[in-house]
Amino acid sequence: MRTVADLRSLRAAVQAWKKEGLRVGLVPTMGNLHAGHFSLVELARKHADRVVVSVFVNPTQFGPDEDYTRYPRTLAEDSVGLVEHQCDLLFVPNVETMYPAGPEHALRIHVPEVGDTLEGAHRPGHFDGVATVVAKLLSMVDPDVAVFGAKDWQQTRVVRRLVRELALSVEITTGPVVREADGLAMSSRNRYLDSAQRARAPQLHATLEWMRESFIEGHARVAVEGAAMRRLERAGFVADYAAVRRAEDLGIPADDERTGLMALVAARLGETRLIDNLAFD
Ligand code: PAF
Repeated sequence: MRTVADLRSLRAAVQAWKKEGLRVGLVPTMGNLHAGHFSLVELARKHADRVVVSVFVNPTQFGPDEDYTRYPRTLAEDSVGLVEHQCDLLFVPNVETMYPAGPEHALRIHVPEVGDTLEGAHRPGHFDGVATVVAKLLSMVDPDVAVFGAKDWQQTRVVRRLVRELALSVEITTGPVVREADGLAMSSRNRYLDSAQRARAPQLHATLEWMRESFIEGHARVAVEGAAMRRLERAGFVADYAAVRRAEDLGIPADDERTGLMALVAARLGETRLIDNLAFD
């Protein structure tokens, strides 16, 4: 595996592969890689001949009171894992490469509607930062396929809309949520949890399963959402939302809409904010 930080080397490597007729896959990450990320590298390998992984902790997608500075940066361990998972090229740009005018003066892409609700409403500007950095990474790497994890389901919908509206010629693929044995979705932020919080954390997934069961039993969406919020609070979370939405565009389903739906939750345990989701069909 080669590691490059500059655009010239990145482009030379990708162009050489493309000249050979090879398909190139990209897995964008913020590092601190775990089994969930590695499953995306494996998925990318199924769709491409060469796999590029980017590691960049993107400042523009963090709010002022969020964890940008303390976000875990573990490049040495990440590199070892990526070699084991047969990544071909690791791209580790610095802030100047991604934001030549500085992050605060950067161009910002806003993806309306699907980017304004749920995470977009609770973390203002978050998806502007995601859409902007993903557009930049796609332009820099120029992959044939890019792979994103379903744990950040709303992000996958934002990225698909971005790609469609900018008419980018990249295929977007989504890999399933990878969970710990007790149901907790793998996330770099799980490492912030102390042991008592870690013991409570699987209640997030349990609540999603409960929402699915309740909805399938015929309970109304609003009742399921309200009861799920109370369930999370009882389990020691401070909940931002527990929502039943259309999987496609995160819109609020009509009362008689029963297919193509999913539940999404975001809640805090202490300082740690976790998100998760579950498709209903
Ligand atoms: O999902 C992530 O890790 C990030 O949001 C992404 C897509 C790498 C953009 O910074």
